[in-house]
Amino acid sequence: MTRAEDAVRTIRDLRAQVAVWRDAGERVALVPTMGAIHAGHLSLLAEAKAKADRVVTSLFVNSLQFGPREDFQAYPRDEAEDAAALAAGGSDLLYAPESSEMYPPGFSTKVRVGDLTEDLCGAARPNHFDGVATVVAKLLLQCAPDITIFGEKDYQQLLVIKRLVRDLDIPVEIAGGAIVREDDGLALSSRNAYLSPAERKIAPVLYQTICNVAADLEQGRGADDASAAARFKLEAAGFRVDYVAVRNPDTLEALHGPVKDARVLAAVHLGKTRLIDNLPVPSQAR
Ligand code: PAF
Repeated sequence: MTRAEDAVRTIRDLRAQVAVWRDAGERVALVPTMGAIHAGHLSLLAEAKAKADRVVTSLFVNSLQFGPREDFQAYPRDEAEDAAALAAGGSDLLYAPESSEMYPPGFSTKVRVGDLTEDLCGAARPNHFDGVATVVAKLLLQCAPDITIFGEKDYQQLLVIKRLVRDLDIPVEIAGGAIVREDDGLALSSRNAYLSPAERKIAPVLYQTICNVAADLEQGRGADDASAAARFKLEAAGFRVDYVAVRNPDTLEALHGPVKDARVLAAVHLGKTRLIDNLPVPSQAR
């Protein structure tokens, strides 16, 4: 499937195709996206292909997960280009529903995952994770894949989706895909396209700074101390900092002193662009 006009637009057509594969005994993966496809998405697709016989990719810019002053209107949209990139990456089917298919008139149900969503990006972006949980629950029910893959760059999102699936008994396996980075360390993101050339030069300081936090923690520095130093460094480099935090990697509970097993997470603004990144401690294959 190579062309945007070949995309499946309705739940009915999506289910019909998935049923054909199921009847043939094939294992189906879903890779949900909002488009603006880059190498990070393609690595999720490659992982999906390694774990399933058929891969459905979805493309839906989900209005529900954007705040009123966020970039829903400006979010990069080029369906033909995305369709070609996903097809070249091995997607068997592109599911690109219209907003009226996803949220028909009268739509009024929201899915809210408590607890994990209240802090970090949830504090900075109220209702964001309700929008994510609602659309992901719908995509999983629409497609009914065996496995679905989400990038670790949105680490809090990945944990929220794992909790959603567990709490609602949705029968799907969830895999996390490793963060893909530019040579200078900047995590790939559709929003990197918003950075001016001057901001793009500063942006890798985010990754360098969280690497320093991870290294400090591995050397026994306390979590509060290491994250305070990182905030200072980021502000000095010109970022507006939403948070730099050291958290339990499963529950996202705050950690304060020396840590053994943790996740360093950060969210910053550079001009009009919001960037997020995270790293495990200990470092694994960093
Ligand atoms: O990570 C994203 O691109 C989106 O949040 C997702 C999971 C596709 C839901 O809209």
